[in-house]
Amino acid sequence: MPSVASIPSVPRVLQWDVHRLPNAVGKRVLVTGGNAGIGYFVAEQLAGAGATVVLGSRDTGKAEEAIASIASRVPDARVKHVPLDLADLASLKASVDALGLDRLDAVVLNAGVALDHPPRRETKDGHELMFGTNHLGHFALTHHLAPLLTTTPGSRVVTTGSFAAKSVRLDLDDLQNTHDYQPKRTYSRSKLAQMLFALELDRRLRAAGSTTESVLVHPGGALDSLTPSRPPFHVRTTGERLSRLPLGLVVQGKDAAAWPAVRAVLDPSVRGGQMVSPRAFGLRGAPRTEPLWKHLADSTTAARLWAASCDLTGCEPTFTAP
Ligand SMILES: NC(=O)c1ccc[n+]([C@@H]2O[C@H](COP(=O)([O-])OP(=O)(O)OC[C@H]3O[C@@H](n4cnc5c(N)ncnc54)[C@H](OP(=O)(O)O)[C@@H]3O)[C@@H](O)[C@H]2O)c1
Repeated sequence: MPSVASIPSVPRVLQWDVHRLPNAVGKRVLVTGGNAGIGYFVAEQLAGAGATVVLGSRDTGKAEEAIASIASRVPDARVKHVPLDLADLASLKASVDALGLDRLDAVVLNAGVALDHPPRRETKDGHELMFGTNHLGHFALTHHLAPLLTTTPGSRVVTTGSFAAKSVRLDLDDLQNTHDYQPKRTYSRSKLAQMLFALELDRRLRAAGSTTESVLVHPGGALDSLTPSRPPFHVRTTGERLSRLPLGLVVQGKDAAAWPAVRAVLDPSVRGGQMVSPRAFGLRGAPRTEPLWKHLADSTTAARLWAASCDLTGCEPTFTAP
């Protein structure tokens, strides 16, 4: 593990301004699920700062609409698409090869699926759909991205958790939720799995002497009805906007929900193992670092989840010192 003295000092960012981002020209960032929702706005904001952004999306048509939307707002935007289906583990190596990059400054593990109702569904690989997509898919993707991230000094893995994970605990004996299936709890547990993964990954990166850092974010509460229109894939009517106005006091649009991930990618004062979330009760507002919730520090559960994830995916994200 590097000594404190060997950790490079970073410029202190006293006040982060979401509307005045640092210049990101030359940075290359992959955003999973960058074709819609929060991921779209992460991509739009990073492209606006000058980064080259790759949208990882399973739907080419949606990705092309997102790219056109960004291009219409950001002159000279550098945005492209790679096919990415997190629910199909065998396809992920080809997605990484299709990036065609020799370096990657950050990946934002943003894509997610949330089911509200039974029946329990499974991925192509036979894993419960939310655990399989949100956690196992990103776990395996990180494994395939490790060589690219390793060759990029100071690269970052930014994992999207959720406020919903605050009130649940993992069931290590039933990670695939085959018993007593409750979709909302299963979703929350899949997000907790991602958060434990992010922190375990950072511990392993530090132990390996890697310069890659793993940062955790959660976007607060974000509603499409509070999100500015981005036609043709997201159109908010005036009626919708007015009727949901009071909700804006508690939660936010997906444009603002993108701020924690954008800060986690671009702010050098945010470090591996930290969590960035909205300032107001973790639900809305400017992005700040939030103390880790107590159960996120459970490294024993995180290590057991890591081992189970290796078994289930046949992958292990491995990073070496540069
Ligand atoms: N919205 C909230 O209040 C909230 C709160 C806490 C955490 N989060 C987290 O924030 C992230 C984004 O949420 P959101 O509200 O923006 O969701 P969203 O609007 O539903 O967008 C989800 C994105 O994930 C993609 N996706 C789903 N399954 C995929 C797969 N198998 N392979 C590749 N991409 C896939 C979707 O692609 P398609 O367009 O092809 O479906 C879409 O781009 C998620 O991780 C979510 O858990 C959201």
